[in-house]
Amino acid sequence: MERTFILFKPDCVQRRLVGRILARFEDKGLNVVAMKMLTITPELSRQHYAEHVQKGWYPTLEAFITGGPVVAAVLEGLEAIRVVREMLGATTGLNAAAGTIRGDYSSSRQMNLVHGSDGAEAAKREIALYFKPEELVDYQPTITKWMRAADEG
Ligand code: TYD
Ligand code: MG
Repeated sequence: MERTFILFKPDCVQRRLVGRILARFEDKGLNVVAMKMLTITPELSRQHYAEHVQKGWYPTLEAFITGGPVVAAVLEGLEAIRVVREMLGATTGLNAAAGTIRGDYSSSRQMNLVHGSDGAEAAKREIALYFKPEELVDYQPTITKWMRAADEG
């Protein structure tokens, strides 16, 4: 089992798409193990997007991501990091394949609705940035035995 960090960005909350997009992750078989609403501060934005702080477009990204409430969550499942990234689609909504979240709901490079960790190290770092260990809930949904065979992990 693997855990990944996702963030429903301000455009997603403002467009009232959180429920519909969360349902896609639930339908896939991913478990929500943590979730909360917050407004990202400039300081948290700089930590989250540390790899992009030096980019010319970072100030507009910070203005966007701090510009309204977000919903942060941790999803758990087999190969959850890769599965979520593939469900999100390419960074720019205009280029993202139809059937992906960004492909279906976004035509923007910046307002692409949902963030997902891009690797194991990022997932660990991002989960710790937004959640205390005790905010992560361990449970096994009873439906699991009807979602995949026992030998699949
Ligand atoms: P990036 O890590 O390249 O994309 P992804 O979210 O797919 O991992 O960029 C982080 C976010 O920065 C991206 O989701 C949208 C935003 N962004 C801009 O605002 N302008 C840009 O030119 C780029 C490349 C990204
Ligand atoms: Mg990225």
